[in-house]
Amino acid sequence: MSIVELIERKRDGGVFTADEIDWIIDRYSADAIPDYQMSSLLMAVFKEGLDYEELSAWTDAMLHSGDVLDFSHVAAPKVDKHSTGGVGDKVSIPLAPMVAACGVAVPMMSGRGLGHTGGTLDKLESIPGFRTALDPPEFRAILERTGLVLAGQSETLVPADRRIYALRDATGTVPSIPLISSSIMSKKLAEGLDALVLDVKVGRGAFMKSLEDATRLAETMVGIGAARGTPVTALLTDMNQPLGHEIGNASEIAESVAMLHGEAPADLTEITLRLGVEMLLMGGITTDPADARARLEKSVSTGAAFDKLVEVVVAQDGDPSVLEDTTRLPRAPHQTVVTAPRRGVLARCDALDLAMAALRLGAGREKKEDSIDPGVGITVPVGIGDTVETGQPLAVLVWSDEARLGDAMPLVERAFEIGDQPVEAPPLVYGELR
Ligand code: URA
Repeated sequence: MSIVELIERKRDGGVFTADEIDWIIDRYSADAIPDYQMSSLLMAVFKEGLDYEELSAWTDAMLHSGDVLDFSHVAAPKVDKHSTGGVGDKVSIPLAPMVAACGVAVPMMSGRGLGHTGGTLDKLESIPGFRTALDPPEFRAILERTGLVLAGQSETLVPADRRIYALRDATGTVPSIPLISSSIMSKKLAEGLDALVLDVKVGRGAFMKSLEDATRLAETMVGIGAARGTPVTALLTDMNQPLGHEIGNASEIAESVAMLHGEAPADLTEITLRLGVEMLLMGGITTDPADARARLEKSVSTGAAFDKLVEVVVAQDGDPSVLEDTTRLPRAPHQTVVTAPRRGVLARCDALDLAMAALRLGAGREKKEDSIDPGVGITVPVGIGDTVETGQPLAVLVWSDEARLGDAMPLVERAFEIGDQPVEAPPLVYGELR
């Protein structure tokens, strides 16, 4: 097969066979297709899409690029959750231990920051020592021991996604329904799950800007799961403004810990509980949503969920003292406060501008090789519809490099709009799909 011929075919709107897709994924995973040709092919897929058969073959080829785990011997129901990517979206970090504390086994395989969105792996790695690269025996052993494991794609677990994900991040090929759905579903299907809950984000800070596109993405992933015998529920949730107050890496770990102490902002708490309820229902822990919610709340009030997070952090070689005292997490040395220029009602608190500003401060990557500064970030203590007074803080930028602050500042300043009329906050959840 010729990679150039395949690139040209997709560029011109043609279709791949399943064998050709297996070959592409296999050759790229084995380093036999260089990044520049794979980038070009991804851009052609981004532009022309994949039909149902192609997407199915693409997902299966990614899934079988490494080991597919089997946890049928684990008695507890195995349920995971994945987000399509958001801003301040740290939900997985408090949610996984809450659900595990309620008796569901959570074999969670997450991603790094992608585009302007943050990644669970990058956030977890701001815990000193915490290892997210686990081989299958270790992944299995930690899940069996703690009922929870928080890892990433590796050389043996969905290696094709690890490589394609990093390449998409650097080549403007992220917001594509087939590429997002195959990336997410290949990871999730490799986890040996009984069921999956998806958080499909919609709005300015999401990859899907319209409810229509987000619904198509959700339907695609629910369909991929159904065709492979894995039930999937998708919640469509708002991403026009950041979730919670913190955007960053270490700061999002601190906010996750606050959530496990019952001290998180209302939006983060509500979304985490809504997704957790779905996970307990799908895991068969209860059939009553109110009971599921009460169990999750109890996992927080008794400290069981926090203890579960500590347990998994220790199991993955992280330093648990930063969870006991989150002021010990990395924090950049300087801060700059952006205040409201006048009194009024917050009409816009733009998740995309704020995410791009955090990325410029060093919280994300602009190139594949970039490293992340875990201690930088932005705190946004306000939300759409809030009344703000002149001089009230809208954002606190925590930074370490003055030039980067200069790049980030204009984005933060334009992220906010203050009006005179009352404004309704967007709904947290737009709908759900099964
Ligand atoms: N999360 C993933 O794992 N992959 C994507 O492409 C987007 C979000």
